Amino acid sequence: MKHHNHRTEAPIRRSIALTAVVVGSLVAAFCVSGAAAATGADLMGGPVVNVGHRGTAGLAPEHTIASYDLALEDGADYIEQDLRMTKDGVLVVLHDEDLDRTTRGPAENCTGPVGEKTLEQVKTCDVGSFFNERYPEYARDGYEGLKIPTLEEVFRRYGTETNYYIETRSADAPPGNPGVDDSSGMEEELLRLMDEYSLRETAAENWRVLIQSFVPASLEEIHAEDPSLPLVQLYSDEETGETLRADLEAAGGYAVGIGPSTDDVDRGLVESAHARCLAVHPYTLVEEPDMRELIDLGVDGMFTDFPNRLEGVLGGEAVDGNRAAIGSAEASRACLSGTGTEVPDTGGVSLLLPAALGALLLSLGLLVATVRRA
Ligand code: G3P
Ligand code: CA
Repeated sequence: MKHHNHRTEAPIRRSIALTAVVVGSLVAAFCVSGAAAATGADLMGGPVVNVGHRGTAGLAPEHTIASYDLALEDGADYIEQDLRMTKDGVLVVLHDEDLDRTTRGPAENCTGPVGEKTLEQVKTCDVGSFFNERYPEYARDGYEGLKIPTLEEVFRRYGTETNYYIETRSADAPPGNPGVDDSSGMEEELLRLMDEYSLRETAAENWRVLIQSFVPASLEEIHAEDPSLPLVQLYSDEETGETLRADLEAAGGYAVGIGPSTDDVDRGLVESAHARCLAVHPYTLVEEPDMRELIDLGVDGMFTDFPNRLEGVLGGEAVDGNRAAIGSAEASRACLSGTGTEVPDTGGVSLLLPAALGALLLSLGLLVATVRRA
């Protein structure tokens, strides 16, 4: 019959039990860590918003009513407007500084900078035919002869039923040259029109209108005028992840979100932005695998030329525009008030891993010491 030494077995059993508890905790910690990394989209807690880039620029002539209508039919939560101001002070929706790429018509009216033309001149230009020439597979007869819309025409058509993602653009401050404002009065006129079409309050409350710009001065001007308006700081593709992250603190002073180029987005950037309660809306997505990758990284929405594709990628997670805007506003407020998920800025590195390794070493040390004493 075998005799057991109870005086030495008891501490060993206690130590083994302690080790089991610690190792079990480590396994749990690793699981939690992995889950947090895998569900980055939950960090701000809002929906992933589908922003129709220039409407649906991949399927219809950009920044036309036809493009906006189709984007909304295809599931866009927001339709985007790039703003330019005509010589006579009217805000029109056009991406480029010059008319040449997207318009056809009398050369004296439809070439050169839009800022040097009156609205009457601009309205003689056809902004649909270029699309049929360039994308014959998506061409439609109805696109020929489409006109450049004014911002007011867009507001009049869609009212408070649609969400707008409006960019203030400046001739003097294109992407890659932020920090200079052309003092065109664009911001003032935008706010005046938002008031006229009852959009200012619902922008602040429900994010019905998001205002974006590459130019910090433009956003700071709007923030000074009305700090309740939700603003998004865009970053050109000339930025690096490092320079972009270095600016987040400043952007957080006036913006609720950032719009980086897709190539600059990684998990570290998303976590750093979320740690400051900044939503992340990269531009401009075309392919579905890229959309999936960004969603996995935890972005809060994205600009796409194909809202129909993003709608398909989101599947059951897609919400209607109303819920997308309100849900995003609520998630932002919860984060800022501290009631949302707290996200430490680790630059994408989990702090649980080094903590877990330390605890593991400690418990093994305890076990060895106990066995030696026995
Ligand atoms: O505003 C987001 C995205 O549209 C930025 O790129 O040049 O198309 O205005 P861009
Ligand atoms: Ca834009």
